[in-house]
Amino acid sequence: MIAVSVKPLFIAIFTLSLFLAVILLSPSTPLSSTLVSSSDSSTGKFDIWSVRRVVEWRPCRSWLQGRLNALPVESNGYIRVDCYGGLNQMRRDFCDGVGIARLLNATLVLPKFEAAAYWNESSGFADVFDVDYFIQHINGFVKIVKELPPDIAPKEPFHVDCSKRKGQFDYIESVLPSLLEHRYISITPAMSQRRDRYPKYAKAALCQACYSSLRLTRSLKKKASELLEAIPKPFLSLHLRFEPDMVAYSQCEYSGLSPASKEAIEAARGDGKPWTGELARIWRERGKCPLTPKETALILQALSIPANTNIYLAAGDGLMEIEGLTSVYTKVFKKSALLNGEDFTSMHGNTKAALDYYVSINSDSYMATYFGNMDKMVAAMRAYKGLYKTLFLSRRAFAELTFQGLKGKELMQALWTTHEQDFVMGRGSALPDCFCEFKL
Ligand SMILES: *[C@@H]1O[C@H](CO)[C@@H](O)[C@H](O)[C@H]1NC(C)=O
Ligand SMILES: *[C@@H]1O[C@H](CO)[C@@H](O)[C@H](O)[C@H]1NC(C)=O
Repeated sequence: MIAVSVKPLFIAIFTLSLFLAVILLSPSTPLSSTLVSSSDSSTGKFDIWSVRRVVEWRPCRSWLQGRLNALPVESNGYIRVDCYGGLNQMRRDFCDGVGIARLLNATLVLPKFEAAAYWNESSGFADVFDVDYFIQHINGFVKIVKELPPDIAPKEPFHVDCSKRKGQFDYIESVLPSLLEHRYISITPAMSQRRDRYPKYAKAALCQACYSSLRLTRSLKKKASELLEAIPKPFLSLHLRFEPDMVAYSQCEYSGLSPASKEAIEAARGDGKPWTGELARIWRERGKCPLTPKETALILQALSIPANTNIYLAAGDGLMEIEGLTSVYTKVFKKSALLNGEDFTSMHGNTKAALDYYVSINSDSYMATYFGNMDKMVAAMRAYKGLYKTLFLSRRAFAELTFQGLKGKELMQALWTTHEQDFVMGRGSALPDCFCEFKL
């Protein structure tokens, strides 16, 4: 029995390796271009996911295998993390805050999720994440309390503003004195801190908080599972960013947009005018311009993603020019169509973002056209779960190659090569703080 089933497998692997060797050794052989042109067929025999990978990012053992040090007996005070922005940005800052609290031997209180400004709503931490689960799983990594002691509870925390700090700074030098003085402070973490100086136990707290201790509330999870179930399998979750505000913010100009899209972009435009002439070219070549749905479809074709692939659109409501994708990929699913209308209209921005997140960490594959907070979080969670079919489409490569005048098969081949290298090396697929490179 075994011998019978192993043999064809061996032959298949051997053939595939031979096939790969041929491609790697001669990048411009007719063979490799047939591969790309086969993207039109619906067999999908040789898409980007079947390329052999060399590197995989996995959660580092140092934090995965449990606590490292006993928590200090004395606490230096209480810290509340104040989080702003979109759901995944708040999550990132919160995770950072957990690391900072451990670094400073402080006790953490539940964070403030200040969502109103960006999301037009007021959903807080407990509306999105399961608080009891968090407290239970972070136990031993950092001290945490649900309620402040009575002598501190009535006070507002002293706010330490880290966001204005320039360059690299150290929380022990610049925040510990305020903590010791006021006993209760609030902080919004800044990206520029000296994380290289973190002792292992502080890093472990951060990683444990971000990747092992957060899960959606029961009601959100239920909604998200329903959505996940409604999507035909297997499927690709595609994070497209071509909403009016995104395009306006990017200061990029596009030709051939519909009048409706142009109007929406103009309406979203603040002070930033789009770049023109040579500056526009440089800007685009630096990878600053969001991919249009049409450009995205072209890259998917270059990666031999079959046209009959089920695609879940992880995207905001105002996505423009979607026909550019759906004219090639016809099986595209949106949450607005999959959820019942009543559910959908009552849902807030953060809730929708949580659904996209959940679907994307459970999809067969994930592709992002941007390297935003959601993409980084999803990629890392997928790496945590051992899901490796994750890829960031390169805006920069697309711009460079088209400026070089590449077209048709040549362009497709070049796009394949660029993304293949990224995939083989696991580039961008996890954040280095909590993940370690693993040679396959
Ligand atoms: C935190 O406690 C550890 C011992 O548990 C100690 O080595 C470290 O210096 C303390 N750090 C701060 C900032 O108090
Ligand atoms: C924000 O809320 C107001 C009032 O509820 C509503 O009129 C408006 O359309 C909302 N804006 C967005 C972007 O959802």
